[in-house]
Formats: sequence, structure tokens, C-alpha cells
Amino acid sequence: MSSVVTDPVRWFLLHGPLRLLPDSMLGDENDVGRLFLRPPEKGVPYRALLTEIGAAAGVHDSAAGLVVTGYEESEEILRSNDWSADQPVAIPPAAGFYRWLTRRSVPIALDAPALVFMDPPEHTRLRKLVFPMFTHRAVTGSIDIIAKHTETVLAELDGRENIDLVEDFARKIPIRVISDFLGIPDLGDMLHSLGGHGAKLLDVGITFPEYRRGMTQARKFTDFIVDCTKDSSLLQDGFLKDCVRMHAAGELTFAELLTLVGFVFAAGFETTVSFIANSIVTVLEHGLGAEVLADGRLSDPWFEELLRYDSPIQLTHRTARVETKIGDRVVSPGTGALIWVGAVNYDARAYPNPGTLDVANIATRTSMSFSTGVHRCLGASLAKVQGQVAVGSFLTAYPEARLLPGRQWRDSIVLHGHIRVPLALTSGR
Ligand code: HEM
Repeated sequence: MSSVVTDPVRWFLLHGPLRLLPDSMLGDENDVGRLFLRPPEKGVPYRALLTEIGAAAGVHDSAAGLVVTGYEESEEILRSNDWSADQPVAIPPAAGFYRWLTRRSVPIALDAPALVFMDPPEHTRLRKLVFPMFTHRAVTGSIDIIAKHTETVLAELDGRENIDLVEDFARKIPIRVISDFLGIPDLGDMLHSLGGHGAKLLDVGITFPEYRRGMTQARKFTDFIVDCTKDSSLLQDGFLKDCVRMHAAGELTFAELLTLVGFVFAAGFETTVSFIANSIVTVLEHGLGAEVLADGRLSDPWFEELLRYDSPIQLTHRTARVETKIGDRVVSPGTGALIWVGAVNYDARAYPNPGTLDVANIATRTSMSFSTGVHRCLGASLAKVQGQVAVGSFLTAYPEARLLPGRQWRDSIVLHGHIRVPLALTSGR
């Protein structure tokens, strides 16, 4: 079925009602769903809201459906087989129709059947196939290469007085790392536009023009991947080559290959860029400097605390497959639960002082930023190594860097990160 027909319908089913819902139908100003869908300005006001919600964390009935802000409650849902990870559809009774339509559309990267929207047993089969490429051991081998990429990017800053931390540093490292990981040299330009417009597809309540621009980028990326699979000279050793081999051996369908590669990129790129930029901003704002470093890298506890404080992913979603419970509350099949990861990380029952940046917060439990259960982030080890090396190397090279006015956050509910951070590099290397 042509995308001219399917794109508007699919946009409407995924985003239309959330986009078109007037504020008056989103409950009063204290409704947690309304606060989630119409959040205040990111940074200080947004964290103040998370702290307020975290003081009464749990499960909330809201105009936008069930919203989960409690650590234990979200853990219970994410680890239970009673809940499906199927792609959330804004009008839940239309979920079956959405799936039917997706199966009849030409498969593209960043689309269903993305690993993160699959349930066992399909999810288990695919995750097992790709798991060996993501193990801690596999990633540890790439530390030296990541350190080399970081040095190259830092060398490009030599002599500069003012930079944009996002464009000139944070984006450049994950682009190189993900190109290496996928085994596609020089993905720079392609990943840049996909990261901009394509990343919008991960958000909720986007406009149709945003959806269309995202889908156009995703289709370009798809064509590129198709070319790579036809011409093996474009491929180096890496994730894509392994997936192509598995496809040839009949272990992966072509749609699975496409969405695995597309999703690894989508899930791994903008999230890591956000972590690097958010963390450097927070460390500079708090005047922490060398305190957060160990051997020139961001230390383990500070990695965890910075990930909790500004989670690059603010939302995930599950739908009850059967009648089930969250705590004492009985939930009927088909009920959707919006898990507000950012707020879960500020649950006052889970963390001693959630509104304050303090490593004591993560002394007994880590954050929910990598999720938990069968969908726990596959790239967590790779993200951690990149984050520790990139943030640590930058702060070592520029301990006196100064934040300038003009900082800008991404206009997104799901992806939580800066898109512009003007910075003065007051101390050279
Ligand atoms: C700081 C950076 C990152 C954050 C905060 C992050 C966060 C997440 C979260 C929250 C999920 C699970 C969503 C859910 O339960 O519904 C997830 C899944 C996933 N992530 Fe990450 N991610 C990061 C970096 C990466 C990287 C670098 C890669 C790969 C190169 C990656 C690959 C994946 C994949 C493949 C999944 C799907 C796993 C599954 O469904 O079984 N992520 N990530």
C-alpha cells in the first residue's frame, strides 16, 4: 500500500488525538497526564516539576490514561509478562488496525517491527541473535577506539574560543562510534539528518509535517541500508554485516534486518548525544569539575547519577495483555500505562534526595533510564563507555569551560536533551 495513503492514517492513529486534544480535555492543571504532555520549560522548571511529582510517586489516573511515576510500580510492569511493549496507539481500540496497516506498508528502518515494540517469543528470538554484539566484553574492546575518536574531535577544537557543545563535540563522537559499530564508514551526513528529523518519530503527539519529514528521512536511510546489503564493498566488519549474514542464513527476515539496524541507530545515537551534552552542562552548572572524574573518565557513580538526574529518554509505554495488578490496583486487559521514566527517577521513596544532584541518590539503586526487564537497553554498556570517555575527556581538557547564554533544549517529550549549548573554552589544552 502506498505511503501517500498509509502515512496520514498511521500518523493519525499514533499521534492525531494527542496532537488535536484541546487543553480543556486534558484535566485540570494538576492532572499528571496534562503535566506530562504539556511540560514546563526544560531545565530548572522541569526538574522542579519532577521533584514535586516524585514526592507523591505511584500510579495516577489521568486524562491521558494511567501514568506511572513510582519506581517499584514501573519495575513491576516492566518485568511482568502480563504487559505488552507493542507500539502505543493513541486510540487503543485501533491497535489491531494499526498493526494490519503497518504489515501492508513497505518496511522501513525505524518502523515496526522494532525490537523495542516486540513481545516474546519474537522478541526473545531476535534479542538472542544480536545480544553477543552488545555484551560488556564486546564493548570493552572498543574503549581505545572511542578514546581515539574523542581525541580527534577534541583536537578539532584547538584554538577555538567559543563553540556549540552539541554540534562541535557531543554529536561528533556517537556518530563515529555508531558508524564503527554498524560497520558503515562515514555515515556522518546521513546520520545527521536522520538524527534531526528522524528522531522526531520517537516522540509522541508530533504534527503530520514532522511525521512526514521523519518518514522521508527513514526511507532515505532504508534505501541506503538496502544499497549496503547489495554492495558488500560498502560494508566493514560490524553489526550490519553480521545482520546481512544472518539474513542470508535465513535467521532474519529483511524487515527485521532493516528495523534492527534502524532502531539500533535511533535508540543509540540521539540518546548518547543527549547524555554527553546534558552531563557536561550539569557538571559545569554545579561547578563540580575534577570531582566527577576517575582516571580522566567520568566515574561510575557520577555516570549513574547524571543519567538519573536528566534521563535522555523520558517515557516508555506498556499495554496490559491480560487482567493484572499494579500493587493492589486491578487493571483490565487493553489498559495502557505511560511510564514517565524521568519522574520515576525522582521517586522520593526510591532516592534520598531526588531533586538534588548527589551520588548518595544512586548508592542503593540505579536509575530507570536504561529501563528494566526484557527490553532493558541493549546498548547500555556501549553508552556508558562513550559517556564516560567523552564527558571525562572534555572536562579534563577544558576544566574552566563557561556556559554562555542561548542554551536550547530539544522540543520533545520523549527525548530529553539539548540541541544548542554555547560555551566559552576559557582554558585551552
Ligand atoms: C545514554 C544512552 C541511552 C539511553 C538512555 C537508552 C535508553 C533505552 C531505554 C529506556 C530502552 C528501553 C525502552 C523500553 O523499555 O521500552 C532502550 C532500549 C534499547 N536500546 Fe538504548 N539507550 C541508550 C543508548 C543506546 C545505545 C548506544 C544503543 C546501541 C548502539 C542502544 C540500543 C538499544 C536497543 C537495541 C534497545 C531495544 C532493546 C529491546 O527492546 O530488547 N541504546 N534504551
